[in-house]
Parts: sequence; C-alpha cells; structure tokens
Amino acid sequence: MASLRQGHRKLRDEIVAGDSRALDRQHALGKRTARERLELLLDPGSFVEVDLYRRHQVHSAHLKARPHTDGVVAGSGTIEGRRVFVYAQDFSIFGGSLGDAHASKIHKVMDLAMSTGSPLIALNDSGGARIQEGITALHGYGGIFRRQVAASGIIPQFSVIMGPCAGGAAYSPALADFTFMVRDTASMYLTGPDVVEAVSGERVSHDELGGADVHGSRSGVATLVYDDETTCLHDVRYLVSMLPGNNLDPAPRTPECGAQHDERPSLAELVPAEPNRPYDMRDVVAQLVDDGAYFELHEDWGRNILCAFARIDGELVGVVGNQPMVLAGVLDRVASQKAARFVRFCDAFNIPLVTLVDVPGFLPGTEQESAGIIRHGAQLLYAYCEATVPRIQVILRKAYGGAYIVMDSRSIGTDLSLAWPTNEIAVMGAEGAVNVLFRRELAASADPGARREELVAEYATQYLHPHYAAERGLVDDIIDPARTRMAVAAGLAMLREKRHRPAARKHGNIPL
Ligand code: COA
Repeated sequence: MASLRQGHRKLRDEIVAGDSRALDRQHALGKRTARERLELLLDPGSFVEVDLYRRHQVHSAHLKARPHTDGVVAGSGTIEGRRVFVYAQDFSIFGGSLGDAHASKIHKVMDLAMSTGSPLIALNDSGGARIQEGITALHGYGGIFRRQVAASGIIPQFSVIMGPCAGGAAYSPALADFTFMVRDTASMYLTGPDVVEAVSGERVSHDELGGADVHGSRSGVATLVYDDETTCLHDVRYLVSMLPGNNLDPAPRTPECGAQHDERPSLAELVPAEPNRPYDMRDVVAQLVDDGAYFELHEDWGRNILCAFARIDGELVGVVGNQPMVLAGVLDRVASQKAARFVRFCDAFNIPLVTLVDVPGFLPGTEQESAGIIRHGAQLLYAYCEATVPRIQVILRKAYGGAYIVMDSRSIGTDLSLAWPTNEIAVMGAEGAVNVLFRRELAASADPGARREELVAEYATQYLHPHYAAERGLVDDIIDPARTRMAVAAGLAMLREKRHRPAARKHGNIPL
C-alpha cells in the first residue's frame, strides 16, 4: 500500500510540475505557466483540480506523446471566498491546442459552473484546434460555444487571452461577457498572418492583425487591455468580486455609507453651463459613486460613451454616460453597440442602471449611415426598452432628438428621471430648429442676422427651459447638481424591490 501511495504521489507531483524545458520556453516567451496564472487568480490554496490524469486516446503516428492533463488545467477555486470555475490552457503541452480530451475537460467545468451557479473564467493560451485530431477538435469547440450560449445571462463568463487564440477558438472570447487581453503576448484572429498573406498578399504581424490594442481600441472584441499578466489577473479578481455569481443571487454589497445625505458641491462646478464646452464625464461619475471608485469597460473603444460598474450607497450599479470630451458625446455606431451590450449584461444580472445624459444627438454623415447607425442605435434602444432592472436617468445638460429617447428616457421606461436646472431637452438645438422652421422668413428678412438671434432666443425660452419637461411629467424632478448623489441613492433605495413578470414569448429579435 505504502509503495502504491508513493508511486501515486510521485506521478501526481510530476504531472503538476510539468516538463521543465517546456516551462522554461513559456517563461522565455514572457508568459507565465497555466498553474502560475491560476495561483495569481484564485485565493491561496483554494484550487481543486479535476481530470489531472486525463490524456488523449488517439492512436496515431502523428500524436505519439500522451501527456497527462492534455494541455489544460481545469477545476474550481474561490475569489474573495466566492466559488468560481476555471480552466487554463497550457501552451507547454501541444501548444495548448484543443483535442477531444482537452475539450471534454472544459465541458466538464462549464457544466459544473452552470449547475452550481458560479462564474466561469477561461485563461486562453492555445494554438487552436489540435490539427492531428481533425474534426473531433472542431466538435470540441462547438461544445464550448453551445455551453457558453446556454450559460449566457445565467452565470458571468470571463475570457482572459494570455497567448495565441486563433481560428474558431476566438469565438469563445467573443461569446464571453468580458474579454481581457495582455499586450505583446496575446493575439486573437480568425485567420493568421500566413493565411492573410496567401489570400490577399497583405503582410501583417500577429500584433497588427489581432494584438491587444487592435481589439481594445478598434474591433471592441477586448473589453480590457493590460501591460502584464499580474495586473490583468488582479483586475479579473476585482471584477469577479464585484459581480453576482449568477442571475438569481444578488451582487455582493458593501455597507451603506450615508450617500442619501452626501451633498457634493463640486458636482455643480464640473459641468460648464455652455452647452458646447467639454468636460470629463469620469469626474462626474467619481463624485456620484462610493469612494470615487468605478471600474470602466472598453476604455479605448467607443470613447464617446462611458460604461462602468460602481457602487452607490453600497449597492452595485451599472453607469452609462455620454462623454462630452470625445466627439462632444454624440452617439455613434460603436458607442450605441458598446452601451447596448453593457445594458443587457446589467439587466441579465439584476444590476440597476444609472444613465448620465449629455448628448447632442446621433453622429451625422454618410459613413455612419451606410455602416448602419440606425441598426446599432436600435440595439441600444432595444436593450433599454427590454431592461427590467431599476433604471435612473440623470440629464445633466443636453438631451436632443432620437438620442434623448435612446438614453433611457421616460418614454422607453426609465423608472426615475432627474434633470439638472441647466437641462435642454428638445427635438434639436435652437439654431438648428430656427434654420428649419424659419428658413423662408430669414431669407426674406432685411436683417437676417438680427432676426435669427431673436428667433433663437424665443425658441430657447419656449422649448429649452428646464421646466418644460418637468411640467409634462417627462422628468420627475429638477435637482440641484450638488444633490445628485443623494437623489440617485434615494432613487435606488426606492426601486430596490422592483419586480417584473417575464414576457410570454420565446425571445425577441434584437436588431444585431
Ligand atoms: N495543433 C497541434 N499542435 C499545435 C497547434 C495546433 N493547432 N498549434 C501549435 N501546436 C504545437 C506546435 O506544433 C509546437 O509543437 P512542438 O513544440 O512539438 O514543436 C507547439 O505547439 C508550439 O507551437 P509553435 O508553433 O512552436 O509556437 P509559436 O509561439 O511559434 O506559434 C502559433 C504559436 C499559435 C502562432 C502557431 O503554433 C500556429 O500558427 N498554430 C496553428 C494555429 C491554427 O491555425 N490553428 C487552427 C485554428 S482552428
């Protein structure tokens, strides 16, 4: 018995230790090993591994080696004491490529994550479908995607790209709720540089084709981008610890901190009264939320809208805000899509929405129209219309036209609409309105400049005055900017017991 136990322990230790030369190669590439990454991700000593002994059952001259684990370390652990399921691909074994055994291990932890209602975290570092296993490998990917879609909106899914993620494999991060990427070492694309060159003659590096910055700022596939693995995994921990474990459990909350009585005089100073002067919406968010702490997503993509998680009086909220610092805060194709996905995540996981509005309209132009701004704007509209979580809209300054409607207006179902006294809610700005309504009169006028000024002033007093919307019940209250944190906190408390009855339909047809 003693020798059996000893043999067992030796084998186990050898598998866990891995092949030292392959691990050195991994380090030489500037990457940590799968197990080192799990150590950084999970609470110390919490990892419970499954399928350590698993190896492929392929009998082929092309795949003679049969290492244990089959290139993926899978199991469960805790983050801040809460259960998560994880898998980390091990590039030192078959380049982390995915074959039947490898895929089955992933399927197993995904099924466990679903049945226990726990978040799923994937650490990707893989050459993709294992070429020697052919269609079986592709079948394995399909099983991952199907499970991800079935789990969407039930458990939060995190995808962390720490090496290559090529071909069909890239659909896994695309289906996840949050995709993290590390600069220099991570890349993600459907077809690699060689194929690109063969097909189109274009020569491109891995990084130019699918590096972290490409996906963080241009494609929007990466939600968050980091310089190194340590800060990346630190932030994965932080985000996981903020969010609920599933769609039935509440998000962890921190103690109430007196937000309902917390006046912030500086809020009134942050937003210039002149409608065209820019300011940083992040400064407003920092004043609104507990400890000035918020976790921003897609910082470099669709920068004209801000999406962030934060806490107000201890309660987790999703904040959406126009960003007047970028493109004057207009809604365009990318911003609409970015916010739509965020709103849907918050709604799926019962996270109240706070929408900060300062929007001059939709971005005009042939580029936007031909690229489908109507369709993308409709995605945001659809997402808000469908959201049943507590919804609070705060209009800071401008709210014009269709963009006003889309930014969680009363008409599409906000629960509480608050406006600052500087608000301008209208179909369009005074100048534009006068140009449309009085074109003929101005053309015939002896002094068009003076007449235009008169008409603009008239329009502004008649339609843009702050009480116009409040008198009609389209905003519920006009508030002193300094009391915004107080009013939002009181609103969240008021809406805490909000309930909804699910609609009797299979699902809607969001304009994707
Ligand atoms: N199937 C089987 N083995 C694979 C593999 C795959 N898809 N991808 C990588 N490997 C193996 C390599 O053969 C190599 O094995 P070895 O150590 O026994 O020589 C090992 O993993 C490391 O790969 P290597 O190419 O040396 O690493 P690299 O850092 O230079 O390049 C990639 C990494 C991912 C860019 C490169 O391996 C590659 O292009 N792989 C194929 C990607 C692909 O098209 N996959 C199919 C997508 S569905």
